[in-house]
Amino acid sequence: MEKLIREHRRQIGDFEVIEFADEGEVELLRGRVDIPVPVDLHWTWEYGSEVAELRALYEKGKGAQWNAERDIDWSVPMSADEWIVVPEASLLAQVAKLMGQDEATQRRAAFDEIAYLLSQLLHGEQAALQLCGQLTNACEKMDEKWYAASQVVDEARHVEVFAKLIQRKLGTIHPISPTLKILLEKLLEARTVQQKTLGMQTLFEGMAVGIMDLLRSQSRNALLSDVLRRVEQDEARHAAFGVLMMRRVVRESSPEERAGMEDWSFALLEALNANQQLDMLRLLGPRYGIDPEAVVRMMTALPNFAELNSLSYMHTVVPNLKGLGLLTERTEGEWRRLGMLCDRRHLEALLTPLESAG
Ligand SMILES: [Fe+2]
Ligand SMILES: [Fe+2]
Repeated sequence: MEKLIREHRRQIGDFEVIEFADEGEVELLRGRVDIPVPVDLHWTWEYGSEVAELRALYEKGKGAQWNAERDIDWSVPMSADEWIVVPEASLLAQVAKLMGQDEATQRRAAFDEIAYLLSQLLHGEQAALQLCGQLTNACEKMDEKWYAASQVVDEARHVEVFAKLIQRKLGTIHPISPTLKILLEKLLEARTVQQKTLGMQTLFEGMAVGIMDLLRSQSRNALLSDVLRRVEQDEARHAAFGVLMMRRVVRESSPEERAGMEDWSFALLEALNANQQLDMLRLLGPRYGIDPEAVVRMMTALPNFAELNSLSYMHTVVPNLKGLGLLTERTEGEWRRLGMLCDRRHLEALLTPLESAG
């Protein structure tokens, strides 16, 4: 199967990682802000509703709008003097603890790591905003255009709320991870509505929801929890749109096209997984005397690596892809081998606190 970002791959122990070691190259990549993307524009003269479920979703979205400035209690404090998440939520904090660093340092490491994670979610929200704008042009039916337009507003609000949360409370918007930038651009540059919908609504939104839900279950800060809860409510509608659109796409596709979508889904998420947080570890690790390579070597060698690593995949993306018929026996072995899929019963102990938090 074709692999993405080949030129940045190397082995750490038994695991093949994607790593960006050249800072100059990373700066160039981030500096590239004008991207030519193909967007087809489709007119429709049918103004009546054709897809009842989409019209219902659009109506639901109108009723569920919230205001990121007014509806959130921004007076709630948030600082590195408290554990804003449980200690286990932070890889850096755990490693700092193993290295014998004091609790204040561990808290600061967790605080930095969450600022980094929220920054990546913020950049992802910007991509969703831009991609949804593309969908508004390219999709065929008026119900789809109305729905996509309502999602554009949601995504603008998500960019707003994460940017304000980071700027007001955490202090630093960290730059986009090079791996994430390349993968998001694959979606923005995708040619067809089908690929854009699959890539953004199913794969990346699915990952984002998995990560946000996990983070919310580990949050100890009321403001962080509230922001995540509100964003997740909107994301549930976005996921429903993805499923509605993709069900039709898959139904109407040939076996070859379906295999192509399965391969593309795997290739994108495999590359995301191959980074194993190296982009974060390279940026923040040195502040705490942490060696990125040693951490990845340790994590990937853990006996329960697959269970821990697959949590955010198993939450939404894997079930949705399976439901759509885009994760079949043909690729399942690879998903498993890379720790992106594991049997649900092995996850029960890890998922129970997660689900009761919802
Ligand atoms: Fe969003
Ligand atoms: Fe979204």
